This record gives sequence, C-alpha cells and structure tokens, in this order.
Amino acid sequence: MDRFDALLKEASTHIAAASSMPALNELRVTYLGKNSAIIQALAGLRNLEGEAKKEAGARVNEVRTQLDHQIRQKQEVLEAEALAAQLAREAIDVTLPARPIRQGAVHPLMQVAEEALAIFASMGFRLADGPDIEDEYHNFTALNIPETHPARQLHDTFYLQGLQYLLRTHTSPVQIRAMKAGEPPFSLVSFGRTYRSDWDATHTPMFHQIEGLVVGKDIAMAHLKGCLQEFVSRFFGVSNVPIRLRPHYFPFTEPSAELDVQCQRDGKHLKVGEGDSWMELLGCGMVHPAVLHHAGVPEGYQGFAFGMGVERLAMVKYGIGDLRAFFENDVRWLEGYGAPAQRAPAIPERR
Ligand code: DAH
Repeated sequence: MDRFDALLKEASTHIAAASSMPALNELRVTYLGKNSAIIQALAGLRNLEGEAKKEAGARVNEVRTQLDHQIRQKQEVLEAEALAAQLAREAIDVTLPARPIRQGAVHPLMQVAEEALAIFASMGFRLADGPDIEDEYHNFTALNIPETHPARQLHDTFYLQGLQYLLRTHTSPVQIRAMKAGEPPFSLVSFGRTYRSDWDATHTPMFHQIEGLVVGKDIAMAHLKGCLQEFVSRFFGVSNVPIRLRPHYFPFTEPSAELDVQCQRDGKHLKVGEGDSWMELLGCGMVHPAVLHHAGVPEGYQGFAFGMGVERLAMVKYGIGDLRAFFENDVRWLEGYGAPAQRAPAIPERR
C-alpha cells in the first residue's frame, strides 16, 4: 500500500460516477492535469537517485497508466450511451402507415365533354375551334342575327371595347369561322366556353357548349335526326332512346327545333330513356341559307347544325342538382363527381 492506492480508489469512484463528457473531462484535469498529484509526483522524481528513483518512477507510471485507462474506458461508455440515445431519438417507425397521396380527378364537365366528343369523333366529325373573344360579326351578324334582332338582347352579352368585341355568347360562331376557312363538305364539332351575363341556380356567367355542323350536297333533316338519335343513345347508354324534334326558333336555322329525350322524373331523380316525360336537351335545325351565304359556302350546299350545353348534359347524366357546384371547386364535390384520370377517353360502344 502506498499513497497512490487511496488516490486510485478515490479516482475510480469519481470516474465511475461521471455522467457526462464535461464531467469526465473535469476529472481528467483533476487526476492527470498539470497540477494533479500524479504529475507533481512525476516531477518530484528528479530529486531521487538510483534504485529508489527507478522504483518510484515505475509506480508513478503504473498509476498514471491506470488512471488514463479508466478515463478512456469511461469515455467509450459515455459515447456509446450518447449514440444509443441519439438513435433512439431519431428512430423511424417503418410500420407507420404512409401519408395518403391525394389523387386528382377529371372534372365532370371535362369528362362529359370528352365522352360526347369521342362519340362524334367516332362518327367522323372533325374538331374545330374558335376564340372566346369574338367580334359581333361572327357571334351575331353572320349567324343571321341582325343588329335590331331581339336575340341580341336575349343573349345578355358581355361587351368589350364598345360594341365591336364581346365574349362569345355561344359556340355557333365557330361554324362561320370553319366554313370560311375550308371547302365543303363539312362535318365538325367544337367544344368551348361561352359567356352570358346571368347568375342563378340554372345560369352561370360562364358555361360550356358543344356545337355541331354538317354541310353537304344532300344533307337533310333526316340526317340530323339520325345523327342525334345515335349520339344520345350512346351518350346515355340506352339503345334507341325515344327522342322528338319539337319546332322552335333560332335565327341561324330554318327550320329550327329543340331535341327532347324521353325521361322519367321521380322526385329529384331523372332517368333517361323511359317514362312519360320529355326533357329538352339541345337546339338544332337546318342551317339558314343566309348563314351559308355569309360563310361563303357555294350554292347547292345545305346542312344541319346543333348546339348543346355541356353543364346540362353532365347534370342529366350524373344527376347533379345545382349548376353552380360546377364552378365552386369544392374538393369534396370534385372527388365525388370527378372521374378517375385516364390516358384516353373510352369511346362508348355503339348500341
Ligand atoms: N347557339 C344556340 C344557343 O346558344 C344553340 C344552337 C341552336 C346551336 C341551334 C345551333 C343550332 O347550332 O342549330 O342557344
């Protein structure tokens, strides 16, 4: 036993009790630093001689090595504990369910437009387009709606820059543009936005229409009826939906008609193709000779045209009650009525 045994004992107790790296570093200074007993003893060796110096030197070094070893061991333990704590803190629970990815949906309007256009495309119609900002010539005059005609007022037009430009009130001006740009015969459809200054449960200031036009040498009312019969049957998925052409008036067609489809109304529900009610679906007729003339179509050609509201088609097909819901962008509504995204629209089968 020498004076270092007590020192070693005391140091071991403190080192064992050290609970952090700063505390351990402090002990390192206390027991191995410049002013520590062991370093002082090392310095004191120079006063000794011969065998005594050798023995004392060996002992001091042994004690110093032991202290150093103990501190290093404790350091390893503390570092291991710190790492374990960090790993525990940052652990990822791979068994947790993943966050749901919200999937977008095709807006019912676009879905219905795609369905309708796909049917017309499969019947040989070509797609035509026109601008949303029209001039009054294409929107009215060329369609046989003269300035004094009450229809101009009926359309509740949004005018731009005086009365020359406007937001088109219907897709019918596309007929004029397409006929002017090409040579007959024509068979085309167009889809797009239309605008009227209206806002209630059944009218929105912006809405959508699909327009159709067929012009040829022998095109007659019978072709119009057959074409629309085929379209509504495929669109509603009911073979030979009973339809009727009810006389009507449009300035750009003569004769003009509205197409009704047979339906069953029971309370809020509407079923197309059965029952004893009729529902108006679209406007149509034989293109007025004045319109063909304005569009530069040569003598000897005639044809039919039709126009329909896409919101109305969607409401009837999917039982949507309020027109305004189409434009409110309520995500819950969009998820409910929207169609899953798909690369190409399915073309409804011929029935
Ligand atoms: N343009 C008419 C409207 O917006 C719809 C229409 C009726 C279009 C008869 C036509 C047609 O092409 O022949 O009310």
